[in-house]
Amino acid sequence: MSRADLVVVANRLPVDRVEGPDGEPSWRRSPGGLVTALEQVMQNLDGAWVGWGGKADLEVDPFEFDGNLLVPVKLSPADLQDYYEGFSNGTIWPLYHDVIAAPVYKRSWWDAYVRVNRRFAEAAAEVANEGGVVWVQDYQLQLVPKFLRELRPDVTIGYFHHIPFPAYALFAQLPWRKQVLEGLLGADVVGFQRLADAGNFQRSIRRLLSYPTKSDTVQVPDGEGETRLVIAKHYPISIDAEQFIALSKDPAIIARAKALREQVGTDTLLLGVDRLDYTKGIRHRLKAHSELLADGRLTASAATLVQVASPSRPGVEAYQDLRDEIEKTVARTNGDYSSVEYTAIRYLHQGFPREEMVALYLAADVMLVTALRDGMNLVAKEYVAVRADNTGVLVLSEFAGAADELGSALLVNPHDIDGTKDTIMRAINMPKAEQARRMKTMRKKVMDHDVEKWGRSFLADVDALRKERADKAEADNA
Ligand code: F6P
Repeated sequence: MSRADLVVVANRLPVDRVEGPDGEPSWRRSPGGLVTALEQVMQNLDGAWVGWGGKADLEVDPFEFDGNLLVPVKLSPADLQDYYEGFSNGTIWPLYHDVIAAPVYKRSWWDAYVRVNRRFAEAAAEVANEGGVVWVQDYQLQLVPKFLRELRPDVTIGYFHHIPFPAYALFAQLPWRKQVLEGLLGADVVGFQRLADAGNFQRSIRRLLSYPTKSDTVQVPDGEGETRLVIAKHYPISIDAEQFIALSKDPAIIARAKALREQVGTDTLLLGVDRLDYTKGIRHRLKAHSELLADGRLTASAATLVQVASPSRPGVEAYQDLRDEIEKTVARTNGDYSSVEYTAIRYLHQGFPREEMVALYLAADVMLVTALRDGMNLVAKEYVAVRADNTGVLVLSEFAGAADELGSALLVNPHDIDGTKDTIMRAINMPKAEQARRMKTMRKKVMDHDVEKWGRSFLADVDALRKERADKAEADNA
């Protein structure tokens, strides 16, 4: 098998397997957030990507796609149940999102997590070039850095954590907390979304492992009396702003946005775009919206809420319960407040291509991002990027990572329903001059700090450590 200087390791490959009308399978780039973020970074490098092919028991040889080598990792139905739905999304996901749903601690899930993380590490070890760089992505693979270091001490390892890292008091619940920290500390650079996430990580290290931390670094004992320096700091992720701006200028997309507005027919279009996940605060948003209708501060003929809730993790019980609850609320609100002509909430339990999302962003007067906890939230940045005429209002949860950079949004605490209601009304009634002032500041932030810059700054730190190690090895050999 050919090898690569840069290897990305993520739970999923950046492609989905689709079957044509003749039954022939082929691969198509998948629309997920992680893929969107990394596709830019990977495009400019001759890299490899190690990940799961999206179907149980899928056995496929490594193959070329868009100039990169893709290396599928096989996961059995039991792996998917215990490692993916279980430990990743039934334990770590709720724990790291402030226990919005109750995390479940199951020893059989942990065993599967260890087993599968080892498999990903072995696949990465096989494909990385001597002295190369391996960049591990996200919470499903927190043990990969340590396993990989054991297999391939010559490679430099980066790990980026796309979701929040919780406060010590929550992280301490995890029965395998020390193993997870040691797993992450196998990396040379551990990246987080927010300054607070990096702080939480460092605090857990001091409390649980007693390793010294200083500003952005941790001193990790190497077992031979020496210490190894690990960088642990924040690198807020972003979007390919240029690509979104280009789409927003596409005449077909502009025409689509106009047609959507005409069909909806209301003065105001409110928009929510989320994976159907309990962290996204969709329930809180719907509650605030239905109360505004009940209070008579909004009417279905004046404002429509378009809520895109793309299907997610349907095998996990908490997601099934959430879907039931949301769909009941939407049906009730529409039953109570829609008319024959106007629909209060247009709910779409579907995923859409990027072009359609941009048309929706262009059509929306107010974008509602009310996550209860979110690593970053790229939807907020996408909305801002496409509003080239500086109109539109972003209502943004202070618990989303994006709030650190987009302070000119209308920030809300989504748990405060009255506050959220007032903020939605303020957004609807915001004068154009204020919209423009806020949007301009936010657009500058998103454009100055795009995903390419994110990738470059992370990999620059990895590369600096790689060079340092190479120099040291040379000096030791001299
Ligand atoms: O936000 C975390 C994340 O893993 C993203 O990287 C990904 O796009 C999304 O959640 C969807 O997750 P899943 O792979 O579980 O469908």
